[in-house]
Amino acid sequence: MDRDGRWLATLEERAREVLPAPVLDYLVQGARESVTAAEATEAWHSVRFHPHVLKDVTAVDPSVTLLGRRSGVPWGVAPTTLQRAVHPDGELAMARAAAAAGAVMVVSSNAGASFADIAATGVRWWLQAYLPADRTLAEPMLDRAVVAGAEAVVITADTPVVSTRYAAGDSVWDTVDPTLVRANFDRGYDEQPGAEKALDLGPHDIGWVAGRTGLPVVVKGVLRPDDARRCVHAGAAAVWVSNHGGRQLDRSAATAHCLPGVHAAVEGSAEVYADGGVRSGLDILAALALGADAVFLGRLPLLALVDGETGVADMHRELLLQTVESLRLAGCRTVADTRTLVAP
Ligand code: FNR
Repeated sequence: MDRDGRWLATLEERAREVLPAPVLDYLVQGARESVTAAEATEAWHSVRFHPHVLKDVTAVDPSVTLLGRRSGVPWGVAPTTLQRAVHPDGELAMARAAAAAGAVMVVSSNAGASFADIAATGVRWWLQAYLPADRTLAEPMLDRAVVAGAEAVVITADTPVVSTRYAAGDSVWDTVDPTLVRANFDRGYDEQPGAEKALDLGPHDIGWVAGRTGLPVVVKGVLRPDDARRCVHAGAAAVWVSNHGGRQLDRSAATAHCLPGVHAAVEGSAEVYADGGVRSGLDILAALALGADAVFLGRLPLLALVDGETGVADMHRELLLQTVESLRLAGCRTVADTRTLVAP
C-alpha cells in the first residue's frame, strides 16, 4: 500500500466518486442544520494527552474485554443501515472484515442481510433494535437474533422519532431498492398497528429485552450521567454514549464532552462505549482515555465499504497501525494504561 494514514480522511471523497448522490448524501447527512454532526470529530481533536515516558512499550496489547469476552481491538462497527446500497456484499463484507480484525459488529435491525447469513461469517455480533410501540411485535426479531447467535441486544434510545434531515437532492428512500434493507422483518410488518417506533421507551424495557432474550442489554444514545445511572439501575450491561452521529437531536452535545460524566456516573458498574466522529487512532485513544471501554465506528467503515470487504479490512488495518503507534507514543502498553492520559 503506497498511501499514508491520511487516506482514511479521503474515504468520503472516494465514496462520492462511486455512490449514487442520494446514497452518499444519506450516509454523511446530519439532522437539521448538522451542527452536532459537524462538531463530533473536532471534539475528539480537542482532547489533550499527558503521555507517560520511561515505559517499556515493546509489546502493546490493544485488546479489550467486552461483555465478558475478549475483543482483539478496542473498537467495533456501529449499526448502520443501507450497507447493501454501498456495496452489493453489504453486511456480509462488513462482517467478514470485522471478524478478521477481531472487532465486534453491531447489526442494525434494518440490515439488508439475514442474521443467519451474517452469523455464518463467524463474526462476533450484537443486535441493535428499535423497539416498536407494541413491544410484542419485536419478539420474532429478538428470538431470531438469539437463535442466530447474537451475544447482546443494543436498544437505540435516542430515536422516539426519526429526526428531520434535509437531503441535497432526491430522498434515498425514493431511489433505493427496498429489498436492500430490513431483511429480518416479516413481510407487512410496517403496516401493523403498533409497529411505529415506541414513544414511551423506559428503563423497564431493559429488563423486558433481557428477560425475553437472556442476553446482556446495551443502551445506545445516552449522553447524560443521570440517564446512565437509570440504565444501570435497570440492569443495563453497558451504556453507549452516542448522539447517533448527529442524526437525531441537532445541537446535542458532542460525545467527547459527555463521555467523562457518563463514565464517572457508572463507576465501573457497567461498561461504557462511545461513538460519533471517530476517524483515527488518535480519536480512539482520546475516547479510551476519557473512559470508554470500546469505541464504535459508523460512517468510517460504511464509507470504506465502497470497496467491499477489502476496503473495510484496509480501514481496520490502518486503525490498528494508528492505535498501536498512539499507545506507544503515549507510553501505554494496554488500554487500561490510557485512563490517566487526560487527568494524570
Ligand atoms: C446510523 N446509525 C444507526 N444507529 C442505530 O442505532 N441504528 C441504525 O440503523 C443506524 N443507521 C445508521 C445509518 C447511517 C447511514 C449512519 C451514518 C448512522 C448511527 C450509528 O450507529 C452511529 O451512532 C453513528 O454513525 C456514529 O457516528 P459516526 O461514526 O458515523 O460519526
